Formats: sequence, structure tokens, C-alpha cells
Amino acid sequence: MNDSGIELRPKQDPLSPEQRRSVMQNLGFGRVFTEHMVTLRYRAESGWDDGVLEPYAPLTLDPASSVLHYGQAIFEGFKAYRQKDGHIASFRPDANARRFNASAKRLSMPELPVERFVLASDVLIRKEQDWVPPELGESLYLRPLMIATEAALGVRPAKEYLFLVFGSPSASYFAQGIKPLSVWLCKEYVRAAEGGTGEAKCAGNYAASLAAQQAAAEQGCQQVIWLDAKERRYVEEMGGMNLFFVYDDGGKTRLVTPKLTGSLLAGITRDSILKLAPELGYTAEEKLISIEDWQRDLENGSLREVFACGTAAVITPIGTVKYEGGSLAIGGAEQSSVAMALRERLLSIQHGVTPDKHGWMHRVL
Ligand SMILES: Cc1ncc(COP(=O)(O)O)c(C=O)c1O
Repeated sequence: MNDSGIELRPKQDPLSPEQRRSVMQNLGFGRVFTEHMVTLRYRAESGWDDGVLEPYAPLTLDPASSVLHYGQAIFEGFKAYRQKDGHIASFRPDANARRFNASAKRLSMPELPVERFVLASDVLIRKEQDWVPPELGESLYLRPLMIATEAALGVRPAKEYLFLVFGSPSASYFAQGIKPLSVWLCKEYVRAAEGGTGEAKCAGNYAASLAAQQAAAEQGCQQVIWLDAKERRYVEEMGGMNLFFVYDDGGKTRLVTPKLTGSLLAGITRDSILKLAPELGYTAEEKLISIEDWQRDLENGSLREVFACGTAAVITPIGTVKYEGGSLAIGGAEQSSVAMALRERLLSIQHGVTPDKHGWMHRVL
């Protein structure tokens, strides 16, 4: 036990520093996992237990566990960064905890109090502190999740759940240099409809997106741009990132991001950019953006950049958009000065280089 109430049952034979360094040599994203995880279990009669820090290991699930049949599964993603002064801090974990609970509510799963979510992650990060890489843009990515574990085949909310958080050290998305994305405007499939689960971070949304992701790959694109389900006109988001459009209004920079209609995820990076924009002299607004607006504004020259944002990549420019019967070039890395300025500002806050005026950084160690 420690003062968090979480029982500590660490691995008896952790990797040596040399072994760890060797595992961390070629990080990429989401390929290397650290040695521990924190688990909490929920029962309808007694609520959440205190939780355990234990070795990272495969789970044992009853074949009748409801998650395997009816998909009560939600997750989150946020990062812990090595600070300029050597400490470690995570970026807005409370915001992820709140979004986790909003997802839980939508899927009729129990909420986990924000402070328990943050504590569980802190206990893990402290244990895995040597797995937090040091360079700018590198981080320890945290993956909290919750699944329904009750063995029961009736279609109803389960009475037992597992919360788990594990870590994955990740490289800077731009380790190999900035490569603007090419994206596919998807008209064949929809990601989410009004009243559906689009604003929840539930596993099923991602399973349903894979066919479109494959279609995008066949067109030579790395990502899908989702349109609204009803008119297939309004731009919503990408598979795992929100979108920003950068306008030049006679020398003034204006950022526009698709409005939260209930069918897209309220990204925490998106929210951070909306708050940072005025500090960099940009105005920012949330509104509906149609593909016709996009095409027209590129043609008349007022739309200068389009970029994607999310925890994994932070900010990444979009260079080309393809659609059935055509494509539009937006610009290369050199044309993406607004995206890159925002990325630099955000990363420098995340690494404790620029003062954290918004109180976003949560010091862990
Ligand atoms: C569908 C979707 N949209 C947007 C985002 C970006 O959200 P955030 O900035 O909180 O990572 C994510 C990633 O979490 C996502 O999965």
C-alpha cells in the first residue's frame, strides 16, 4: 500500500537499465509497453476497489464477459512529458478523466471519480519514471481503459468492470521530419450519426472506422476525413484527430474548427488550441465547415493551411485531400507556419519550457 490506497505489487525481476535502453531504442508509437499496469475492479454491490499496481501481463477473461459480445469498452489517451527541469508532468489528465466518464455514461458503464483516474495514472507514471523518454516531442503515452467483465449473456449493462491503465513510451511523431498527411474524404461510410456514440471514446467507433481506413489506404491516403451522416457535406474529424482550417483575412490569421455537434470527439488538443490561439495573435472559432467551403476557400486563396491535432501526433499539417474524382493540394510543410507555431508552443508548454498559464500540466514527480 502507499498513500494513494493502491496496493503495490511490482515485478520481482524488472529489466536492467541496459535492457530498458535497448527496448527504447526504436520507439515509434504504441509498440513498446512498460513493465507495470494499474488495475481497479468494480462490482455493482460494492463499487470500485482500491486498485493494484502489478506487472504488465495478459488478462484472463471469461468467454461470456459482456465486453466480448456487446462491446462495453471505452478508452483514453494522454501523455506524461519529461520537464525541462527533470521533473515529470502529465498534460491535462483531469480533462481525459472527465471525457472518460462522459464515455462511460454513454455506454451505461460506471464512472470513476476524476481523482482516482488521475491517481491511478500517477502511481503508474511514478513506477515507470525511467520509461519517460527525455527528448522534445517524446513522451510516455498513457492508455486508460474500461471493459465489462461480468460473465452474462443478457443484453443489459454489466455489473462488473475492469479499469486498467498502462504506458507506452513514444517517439516524436516527427522524428523523421515533417511529412504533411494526405487524407481521403469518405462518402461511402459514416463514423457517427446524431444520437449515436460519436462523442464517446468507445472501442466500437474505431472498429467501425477500419473499412474506411482501408479504402483511404487504397487511394494512397494515410487518414480518413469523416463527413456528417445526414448530408455527407460537413467536415467532422479524422480517425483519431480533430481538424483546423487556417484562414488569412487580409493579414489576420483566423482558425476555424468543426463545431461539436455530438457526433465528433471533443479533442483535448483541439480545446487547447482554441485557448492558445489568441496568445499567438490568432482568432479562433467553431462552426460547421462544408466540403464546398473547403474547396472554394482553397481556390480563392483565403484558406492557407489545414491541420490535424490529437494527443498522439500533437499537430500535423495536411498536404493533400483526395475525394472520388479529384484531389486538392493544400501545401507542404513550408506552408504550414501556423500549424508549426502552434505545435511548438504546445510542446514547449508540455515540456515545461514555456510557462503553463492555463494550469494544464499536472506534476507527477
Ligand atoms: C476520434 C478522435 N478524434 C479526435 C481525437 C483527438 O483527441 P485528443 O486531442 O483528446 O487526443 C481522438 C484521440 O483521442 C480521437 O480518437
